[in-house]
Amino acid sequence: MRVLVSGGAGYIGSHTVLALVAAGHDVLVVDDFSNSKPTVQGRLEGLAGRPIPFHAFDLTDVDKTERLFAHEQIDAVVHFAGFKAVGESVDRPLAYYRNNLDSTFALAEAMTRHGVRKLVFSSSATVYGEKAPVPYREDYEHLSSSSPYGQTKVMIERVLSDVARISEGWKVALLRYFNPVGAHESGEIGEDPQGVPNNLMPFIAQVAVGRRERLTVFGDDYPTADGTCERDYLHVTDLAAGHVAALEHLDDMAEPARAFNLGTGTGTSVLQLLKAFERAVGRELPYEVGPRRAGDLPAFWADPTRANTELGWHATRTIDDMCVDTWRWQSRNPDGFPDA
Ligand code: WQD
Repeated sequence: MRVLVSGGAGYIGSHTVLALVAAGHDVLVVDDFSNSKPTVQGRLEGLAGRPIPFHAFDLTDVDKTERLFAHEQIDAVVHFAGFKAVGESVDRPLAYYRNNLDSTFALAEAMTRHGVRKLVFSSSATVYGEKAPVPYREDYEHLSSSSPYGQTKVMIERVLSDVARISEGWKVALLRYFNPVGAHESGEIGEDPQGVPNNLMPFIAQVAVGRRERLTVFGDDYPTADGTCERDYLHVTDLAAGHVAALEHLDDMAEPARAFNLGTGTGTSVLQLLKAFERAVGRELPYEVGPRRAGDLPAFWADPTRANTELGWHATRTIDDMCVDTWRWQSRNPDGFPDA
């Protein structure tokens, strides 16, 4: 299939572009580079061994989005594009609602006008909110999120489900990611947060490469085995494979729209991840324990049964694989992707 990947220059998008090409699909990318670098295209083309067309514009531009669908043959869409920083969304709610919702509306309207009926959407475990029983299961009905970012995911899941339900032949997979980490085995692409990393793994990686002085562990007094929060960390290469599996499953999906957890089903603590990274680097890394971060839940992980049985997808890579691959990327690219 010819697949449009929105946000294909981003962390998960770029890994998914490679997985789609490896699975024999034709890929084109649209990305406004608001949270990624144009140099990603060259890295991807080098790894894919073929040209990968990039269209540099913001999907909220309805005219440019229409022109893309009018001029390009598109069979399916994998939709990553959107603002994704939880903390920033609390400070900039309108920007998050405007960007994440309007880009999805423009995309869905262009798909409708041009008869594109297959969509894989990048959702998040954050939609389970703070009260869902662990492990999280897709049939949990009280979706919510404490951040505007998470709320955009709840809303977009609902919008796409309603559109799919009334649109002849539409099939939508809503992929709820747990905690994506790691990097492509080549070390050529990986997570490259702009500014101070919000997330644990890239922060540890920047401590290891000397860009940050030490890790601050946000609280060690949680009701968990070692007192630090536990999360379901998932290798980005496994996550990318989940997108290919979902895309190729759409025709067999009975429902117009269906959610799938993409996780390992296992929780790992902050300190356990730090120790695994120290094994990858071969030395201890400096850290201090600080106060809890507002909004953090003590522990959650996925029930991945639905993706396992219906998509035939399983996470295969271990926490040590995630750290080894992250370290290869970070040590070879201490400052992330070059600007030009
Ligand atoms: C993991 C654990 C922190 C940084 C977030 C988003 C979620 C999704 C994935 C988009 C927590 C602790 C972190 C640090 C620390 N993103 N930590 N020191 O919060 O589980 O999920 O990213 O979909 O929506 O909420 O991931 O990596 O930020 O934190 O101690 O410097 O690491 O307190 O317990 P989180 P995270």
